Amino acid sequence: MIISCRLFCSLLLLIISDDVHVSSFTTQSQSNFHTSSRNNYLISKRTSSALFSSTPLSSSKPKAKPRTGIAQQLLDFALNSPLWKLVLVPQARKNIAKTAEANGIQWEKSKQWLLDQDGPWKSTKENDDGSYNQKFPYPAYYTKEFHTYTNGNLSWESAIEQELASRAIGARNFPSFGADGGDAFRSSFEQAIIRLGGHCPDGGIILDLGAGTGISTRRLGALFPHEDNKILGLDLSPYMIAVGQKLLDMAPLQKRVSGDAVSTGQDALDGKWVSDIMPDERIELRVGDAANTNLDDESVNVVNLSLVIHELPIDVTIQVCKEAYRILKPGGQLFISEMDFDSPAYAAQRENAMLFSLLRSTEPFLDDYADGMERVREFLIATFESVKITAATGRHYALVATKGVNNNDDKLGIFEDSRFKDGNYIVDDTHLKVWESKE
Ligand SMILES: C[S@@+](CC[C@H](N)C(=O)[O-])C[C@H]1O[C@@H](n2cnc3c(N)ncnc32)[C@H](O)[C@@H]1O
Repeated sequence: MIISCRLFCSLLLLIISDDVHVSSFTTQSQSNFHTSSRNNYLISKRTSSALFSSTPLSSSKPKAKPRTGIAQQLLDFALNSPLWKLVLVPQARKNIAKTAEANGIQWEKSKQWLLDQDGPWKSTKENDDGSYNQKFPYPAYYTKEFHTYTNGNLSWESAIEQELASRAIGARNFPSFGADGGDAFRSSFEQAIIRLGGHCPDGGIILDLGAGTGISTRRLGALFPHEDNKILGLDLSPYMIAVGQKLLDMAPLQKRVSGDAVSTGQDALDGKWVSDIMPDERIELRVGDAANTNLDDESVNVVNLSLVIHELPIDVTIQVCKEAYRILKPGGQLFISEMDFDSPAYAAQRENAMLFSLLRSTEPFLDDYADGMERVREFLIATFESVKITAATGRHYALVATKGVNNNDDKLGIFEDSRFKDGNYIVDDTHLKVWESKE
């Protein structure tokens, strides 16, 4: 019992530190990107459904297989039992903090520093049950336990920890970048998006759906720096938005503090992880539903989904993509940055019953996402004028879908998939094997 408990805990350590919060990362260096025109398709929209039903999008790619059967169900059941959770969840929490500290990110101090700042988490701590600032009923999928947080994204703890966890996991998986590993990971998506022709006209409106505390929103601001651009971050969690707003509000102060103009005291050091957040008055963060934004038709230039759709049931993802199409201006673009279950690394991981069950127990819709990726692509190809996808890391892809300028169903839809070359993923697959302990 003790041995199996230890095994479970160490496996969970790896899972949690590899995939929770921002899914997983690779050690892929930024310089290893190539493009390939293999697997490019030019498809008539009229015939696309028939074509897709008989022709795989990428015939040479390896396929991630879901596990089924009684043994798998028993395993999932066991991992979701209160007994295991009692052991696994506290251990997982400790491990993510340990991973952060080991990589030069001051988890405990930074977390405490943020908790000590004035914010609604102080006065409404008792209200950590999903009811804070609730504006409308949440969709059922959203109230599930998530990432080991009982109230999922609807809690102060998940919101306060989101940025730290993102940095910690990035640092662990891009060791050559040290504490900047999270930055390396995210910039791999941005490079891929720009390579696919992603752009925003000067003075454009960018909408970041599932913005969380705004990491992706702020990065979009930096990627498209024109002073007249507007960047709107929308998230269903008022907790995430409150923390994200606080980080933005504190940014000017932190900049001064870290720039020695005010103080270099311990306070400033404890809050150092916030100090590289740049003030950006073009950004607005708002609570809202990605599937129903309440924005006008054809009102935005870019819609972004960074590490969001692997957390959604596939029908919700399709709904979100429909909403994106509705609100995009003609010629506007949808960007998706995500885990790639067509990659050999995730295919192997998914075939590992124990490992994937652990992952599934913290990410309830991961199977739905993995099985439904192709359906989402088919929907995008049938809807947008062009869809381009490429590898960002050995386990992640970036996708850019462009809305046609004229609503003309007879035009050709372009699909370019440059992830695979001669049957292999085109980015060298140098990520850490997640079941190998570094210790
Ligand atoms: C893993 S986080 C990604 C956050 C951010 N985009 C990033 O790159 O760090 C996924 C976010 O999606 C949000 N989310 C899930 N469903 C949503 C929905 N229907 N509408 C808006 N946000 C949603 C969650 O609250 C969570 O903050």
